[in-house]
Amino acid sequence: MEYKKIYTPDPDRYDGRMTYRRCGNSGITLSEISLGFWWNFGGINVYQDSLAKMTYAFDHGVTVYDLANNYGPPFGSAEETFGRMYSENFTAHRHEMIITTKAGYEMWEGPYGRGSSRKMLMTSLDESLKRMKLDYVDIFYTHRYDSTTPVEETMQALIDIVHSGKALYVGLSNYPAEVLTQCIALLREQHVNPLIYQGKYNLLVRDLENTHRAIFNKEKIGFTAFSPIAQGMLSNKYLNGIPADSRAALGRHLNPESITPEIVEKLNKLNTMAMKRGQSLAQMAIAWLLSKPRVTSVIIGPRTVEQLADSLKATENKSFTTKEIADIDEIMK
Ligand SMILES: NC(=O)c1ccc[n+]([C@@H]2O[C@H](COP(=O)([O-])OP(=O)(O)OC[C@H]3O[C@@H](n4cnc5c(N)ncnc54)[C@H](OP(=O)(O)O)[C@@H]3O)[C@@H](O)[C@H]2O)c1
Repeated sequence: MEYKKIYTPDPDRYDGRMTYRRCGNSGITLSEISLGFWWNFGGINVYQDSLAKMTYAFDHGVTVYDLANNYGPPFGSAEETFGRMYSENFTAHRHEMIITTKAGYEMWEGPYGRGSSRKMLMTSLDESLKRMKLDYVDIFYTHRYDSTTPVEETMQALIDIVHSGKALYVGLSNYPAEVLTQCIALLREQHVNPLIYQGKYNLLVRDLENTHRAIFNKEKIGFTAFSPIAQGMLSNKYLNGIPADSRAALGRHLNPESITPEIVEKLNKLNTMAMKRGQSLAQMAIAWLLSKPRVTSVIIGPRTVEQLADSLKATENKSFTTKEIADIDEIMK
């Protein structure tokens, strides 16, 4: 008879190894590192590798698991992987987890399979819950601004989703600043607090500092940064060329042509700084985000357990001297 090994979490996972940050002006805190499921937990990945990353993250105090309807590949398969891992190993820990999903980008064929209409958001969330084997998610995000749908319709769908009990909180991702302000007001008019904004923010992409930061400060909503190491660019892997197993070599959302000689020169300078700090470049890139007071959590997307372990160690040194910050700004100019 075959016996199945049941995962037993590390009993010391809340011993201080992870820090939990208040999310905006809400009542909850999030682990400062979240585990993201965009590319490395799909149907094309080995299930046991996904499970190894999920259990490692949970054992190290990660409470936030970031998904979306179309994460994979193929679309939906990251949620299916999550559903299997959750139902076989984590049901006893549901109350310890913040599980998110999103809808807005292309998901299924036909006119309702993308965008931010009420039809898309509500149908997609129902499908996501089935794939993840959950009754509710903790945070449901509108994944992007859709200029063909009135924001009143999208926000009303979010409000009704909260009232239905299928999501505890709502968040927004990839919204232009001026629209974001209007959406926050629409939600608050009906007493639904927008918990968090999710946006791309890393050493190479800093637009949000000029466009959105003032809104986060004024409205006191949480902020979570995605692509913290620019899909691997802010690691030591591209310092001397493009390795065969990398996203750039496989053409997975990272264009090899974006790794220009100018970028490689900057990466090498950053890498020298990171080594002086006793960190890998990936760790320094994550630590730099965590040094920002408005960042609630950083969503990492590790391909392997080794990458996950490396990234988690970023939390061991999150402070930067004024000179280090100035040097980074000079390198990235
Ligand atoms: N809201 C949105 O629109 C949106 C968009 C994108 C992402 N996200 C969320 O953010 C999460 C993270 O995004 P991302 O995958 O772009 O993050 P990322 O951490 O910037 O990139 C992940 C890639 O970086 C490399 N990597 C990761 N850790 C490493 C380490 N310690 N050392 C060296 N290389 C390392 C791996 O590349 P190789 O495979 O080449 O080794 C991995 O596939 C996603 O999973 C998703 O949850 C949200």
